[in-house]
Amino acid sequence: MTVTKQREQTTILPHGGELVQREVVGPAKEAYLSEIEGFNVLTIDAWSISDLELIAIGGFSPLKGFMGQQDYERVVESMRLADGTVWSIPITLPVTTAQADAFAIGEKIALRGEDGVNYGVLELEEVYTYDKEKEAKHVYGTIDKAHPGVKKVYDKGNVYLAGPIHLLQRPNHSQFQEFHLDPSETRAMFADLGWKTVVGFQTRNPVHRAHEYIQKSALESVDGLLLNPLVGETKSDDISAEIRMESYQVILKNYYPADRTRLVIYPAAMRYAGPREAILHAIVRKNYGCTHFIVGRDHAGVGDYYGTYEAQTLISEFEEELGIQIFKFEHAFYCNKCENMGTTKTCPHDKSYHVHLSGTKVREKLRNGEALPKEFSRPEVAEVLIKGMKQN
Ligand code: ADX
Repeated sequence: MTVTKQREQTTILPHGGELVQREVVGPAKEAYLSEIEGFNVLTIDAWSISDLELIAIGGFSPLKGFMGQQDYERVVESMRLADGTVWSIPITLPVTTAQADAFAIGEKIALRGEDGVNYGVLELEEVYTYDKEKEAKHVYGTIDKAHPGVKKVYDKGNVYLAGPIHLLQRPNHSQFQEFHLDPSETRAMFADLGWKTVVGFQTRNPVHRAHEYIQKSALESVDGLLLNPLVGETKSDDISAEIRMESYQVILKNYYPADRTRLVIYPAAMRYAGPREAILHAIVRKNYGCTHFIVGRDHAGVGDYYGTYEAQTLISEFEEELGIQIFKFEHAFYCNKCENMGTTKTCPHDKSYHVHLSGTKVREKLRNGEALPKEFSRPEVAEVLIKGMKQN
């Protein structure tokens, strides 16, 4: 066995057993790039490019391409791929009927970005229509178009193209380059660091005191923390990935043990699918080599579509099969009477002592350049956010 292989061994296997790798490099890439000029072209948006990348780097293992109908139907209906593997969110390539008509089963299609770059190739195996209402109802639990994930379902084309993919060109993450690692690289990094147990943390927000509290509570029981913020498409009122990335570096530098934490981007689009997305998030972090994953209050939720602990309840049903252990946390807050962070499990005082700020209130304060209470956010983080808001 080679040294590299040894380093890549971690204590948790990728979902489905093997890390998928669909990036074409070296001479094979050159060959594809000369061939691709003869392929029909499909222009894909940033969302599909990020799905393409995540499939190719193994973040979405065991998927090797965009889902075919059998996988799709079973995922929508019962959260499993056709072979029974747990999978909670369809990963599909939507096109309009007119676009679909231009392609034939068996052909290779160039997947081109709006910037003219050929990001990859789809080997077209299937073309199928789907029921939007059914997808919305099952995956998002609602057909309300005010839900950002549901709106996406209704806005996209009526047909899915399916088949294995090859990645030719990585999307540009140059602004976060040093924090961009593939699952094979995070696995090697954990091995190098000697971390046998690693807790993954998903976020689309700056790290506030409640996040810090649950991360550090988890870190008390494991070797390392992978802060793995989602940096793909989010809804317009979420704080931008650029500002958040700066805030993560600031909080890590000032408040976290450097040898027990790592910051790596998760280059996915946010679905806001609450409970089902919590499962996807856990699967991806398992692929990145995390042995544990945090699911707190209203994970991946939006508005009040999901119950506070619905994601925890759903993921509990699959936890054993998933193999990644879930740290579940109740709603955390700062208590003025305890003078520290806690949850109703650890703090006996009533709500009047608890510091609570809604996301809307936080954004309003930041926009007005007002500092956030230190019980809610580390001052260094608030400073970065206020500065970022001013520049935007
Ligand atoms: S998410 O959409 O990425 O889930 P967010 O960044 O707010 O949103 O949350 C990241 C993780 O922290 C999720 O697991 C979420 O459940 C958890 N979380 C956020 N705020 C709290 C809180 N006050 N108490 C407990 N868990 C929380």
